[in-house]
Amino acid sequence: MTLIFAHRGYSAVAPENTMLAFQAAKEAGADGIELDVQMTKDGCVVVIHDERLDRTTNGKGYVKDWSWSEMKYLQASYKYTNTQSPPTIPLLTDVFNWMRTNNLLCNIELKNNEFLYTGMEEKVLQFIRQYQYEDRVMISSFNHYSLAHFHRLAPDIKTAILYSSHLYMPWKYAAAIGASAIHPNVRTVNSSIIKTSIEAGIDIRPYTVNKEKQMEWLMKQGCSAIFTDDPKKAIVIRKVVLGK
Ligand code: G3P
Ligand code: CA
Repeated sequence: MTLIFAHRGYSAVAPENTMLAFQAAKEAGADGIELDVQMTKDGCVVVIHDERLDRTTNGKGYVKDWSWSEMKYLQASYKYTNTQSPPTIPLLTDVFNWMRTNNLLCNIELKNNEFLYTGMEEKVLQFIRQYQYEDRVMISSFNHYSLAHFHRLAPDIKTAILYSSHLYMPWKYAAAIGASAIHPNVRTVNSSIIKTSIEAGIDIRPYTVNKEKQMEWLMKQGCSAIFTDDPKKAIVIRKVVLGK
């Protein structure tokens, strides 16, 4: 069955990467959530997509230049200006605490492509161990050196390569760095890549799949999972396509 991951939470209806979006994803019936992590000046692992605060919060500048004691007061309403009590930027541990109340899977994307955030892999791993979420999380990144490093630290935790260009035989490349899945931009996916990856034991979870036709096609192809901003729509389509 194709699993449905809410991309940055249910970001079609709530401010991305906030507890509101993650709660909405759960209420919609998603199988999992996807979130992005960066690191503050004082080494806190925070859930936010961009290196900068400007697009999604009322703060300015780089996440890496702020300490958590200041950042925690920012509003992360993004474009949803009508939210009654504006959400704040969650710590990864806020999400992990909330995950104790449900069974959702969680894809943690390490946003360490622009800044390396030395030590972030170790911190994320420490939290996964602390909460015993080894079987509920998967680690992805566009920085494949970081994924290889994470795999060396914790071979028991699933990693997945993110990519947006046309990689040649990505299932082989993924396996070579210890990843158990590929997370391609949906524009690069075709039926042969889906089939061959799955036959090779490599899961395939394309992003970001928001069009009904694409959802339907990927589900019919037996894709392992999809990342979507609109999990409710995907669930309706999955019921039609797969009957569940
Ligand atoms: O994990 C898939 C997707 O989230 C990667 O792209 O830019 O939305 O983080 P982006
Ligand atoms: Ca992401």
